[in-house]
Amino acid sequence: MLIAGNWKMFKGAHEARAFTTRLRHLPERAPGVEVIVCPPFVSLEASIQGLGSESTVRVYAQNVHWELEGAYTGEVSAPMLLELGVKGAIVGHSERRQHFGDTDETVRRRAEAALEAGLAVIACIGETEAEREAEETEAVLARQVAAIPRHERLVIAYEPVWAIGTGRTASPETAQEAHAFVKSLHPALVLYGGSVKPESASSLLVQPDVDGALVGGASIDPTSFEAICLAAAQVASA
Ligand code: PGA
Repeated sequence: MLIAGNWKMFKGAHEARAFTTRLRHLPERAPGVEVIVCPPFVSLEASIQGLGSESTVRVYAQNVHWELEGAYTGEVSAPMLLELGVKGAIVGHSERRQHFGDTDETVRRRAEAALEAGLAVIACIGETEAEREAEETEAVLARQVAAIPRHERLVIAYEPVWAIGTGRTASPETAQEAHAFVKSLHPALVLYGGSVKPESASSLLVQPDVDGALVGGASIDPTSFEAICLAAAQVASA
């Protein structure tokens, strides 16, 4: 079971250090759960320092470029992340696809470069509301999954766009159906993302093809993030 907190554009270095200091020992209370936090680039180093050398909580970036270095203003490369002690990166989050021009092709390039450099990857996919209503969900997921490399350090996050930040969590049945479909196409573990809260976490995580969660809003509050990790530990031990 894997629980990753996507902080999005929240928490500067000061707040990140305080938050991660508090999370340091969380894995000891949540056996069977791999805990990951994904701070903004500028807060990665403070988060690693806040966790200290003993913690098993891992720090991932929210994006990574496909080149090692070069004239790419505003981007950050895999070797730069590794130098800080970052262990992985999210690629293809729907907010990057919607607002920053990421496509299946750039997601593929980002994922391949990150894996080749030695990072783990959480590759995000998911249909919009219009696509679901037009019964295009499987076609969209199949197209997005086809661009995602196969690798032991890669996990997929199924994040229906209509469920992200809306409070409209996918029902456990809807999530299970999409996860089973994704798993029929790709061998990776599949996390669910989209308005996961402490109240909804268990019912999603008990689904047979839900291997964890990518949590946005509820991951930036320490109490709710801890509650989700503890719920995951309960499911993992059942
Ligand atoms: P949310 O975000 O939990 O706030 O819906 C999930 C995500 O965007 O990864």
